Amino acid sequence: MHYVTAGESHGKALVTVVSSVPAGVSIDGSLIDKDLARRQVGYGRGGRMRIESDRALIVSGVRFGKTIGSPVALSISNKDWDNWLDVMAVNGPRPDGSPRVTAPRPGHADLAGSQKTNTDDVRDILERASARETASRVAAGAVAKALLAEVGVKVESYVERIGSVDCVIDPETVDIAAAEASDVRCPDSVAAQSMRAAIDAAASAGESLGGVFVVRVTGLVPGVGGYAEASQRLDARLGGALLSIPAIKGVEFGDGFASAARVGSQVHDPIIYVPGAGITRESNHAGGLEGGMTNGQTLVARVAMKPIPTLMKPLASVDIDTLQPIDASRERSDVCAVPAAAVVAEAEVALVLAAAYMDKFGHDCVEDIRASLNAYRERIAR
Ligand SMILES: Cc1cc2nc3c(=O)[nH]c(=O)nc-3n(C[C@H](O)[C@H](O)[C@H](O)COP(=O)(O)O)c2cc1C
Repeated sequence: MHYVTAGESHGKALVTVVSSVPAGVSIDGSLIDKDLARRQVGYGRGGRMRIESDRALIVSGVRFGKTIGSPVALSISNKDWDNWLDVMAVNGPRPDGSPRVTAPRPGHADLAGSQKTNTDDVRDILERASARETASRVAAGAVAKALLAEVGVKVESYVERIGSVDCVIDPETVDIAAAEASDVRCPDSVAAQSMRAAIDAAASAGESLGGVFVVRVTGLVPGVGGYAEASQRLDARLGGALLSIPAIKGVEFGDGFASAARVGSQVHDPIIYVPGAGITRESNHAGGLEGGMTNGQTLVARVAMKPIPTLMKPLASVDIDTLQPIDASRERSDVCAVPAAAVVAEAEVALVLAAAYMDKFGHDCVEDIRASLNAYRERIAR
């Protein structure tokens, strides 16, 4: 399963095409919209998210509530387009006096993007590099989640840190319902309150915050992914997908960086046999991945997001017309988008795992995938 997106932040719409979707996957449009809504909310989001109320229009690939084996195309309208008809006009020529953005923002694609594409208007870059694009990814990810649901796999997330406020949560026992009910997606209500206070303080200071969230996946069978070829290794595929999300700067699986400081016996998970449960593990330091494959334990990816680069107290920049010092430009912006990024990350993880499940269990239709999965489960159960 692959996806391609198109669309500018203040253009008419965002478009996604998800290809290699097997037939027979139940698609409930309201579940796609639910994920889009989960991406939009969160303490610390900016004014733009109050304008948009994202809904996906399913353009192709679904009939009578099920996929039919053709690409699934989805479109999400930008309500804000109505306010940008002149600035984002599709047809030319450019009117005299049309405003240009000439003050690139540090921490964004603005400067290198305009140098690379030979534009004198940074808007050409920021419109596409904007994280508004991640709404398309969430819609594509909802299709992948629908396939994973057919095979008993669930992808969820919660926030562990915002700025310097963090909490320790066991991903195996985390109360996901509490995370879902929290506007910072943190299940620990005391930490959540401090996170909100940190966001308020950052907003008052014209600052922004990043943080850390966890994506956990349950219901996986062992052996998905591959050890034999670099391109099959799930760690690399998941890491690449997560790092493709704007502002994501670090990914670790299981104990990740902390394992580097420990001895081997404290890092690797002893293999045990439990009658009824079969061959399993005493612990899950590996975060569900060994040798480039799932090992049947909960998959745990911990992901770091840098602070939002658009600052209301702007950093120094240089005007690309005059080469004079200037304050970086200010687009309407979030103060913190860690809770939203966690929802985008769920989508990226779901897309990788859906593709890896299809590599192992078949591509054509859900019934064949399920039959193959059941035969595999039976073969490895002892
Ligand atoms: C869900 C989400 C929302 C974001 N919202 C904003 C925002 O409002 N303003 C902003 O400047 N950056 C925002 N960002 C971050 C930028 O998109 C990102 O920092 C920028 O593209 C550069 O990141 P990079 O160096 O990792 O590409 C957001 C990121 C995500 C994932």
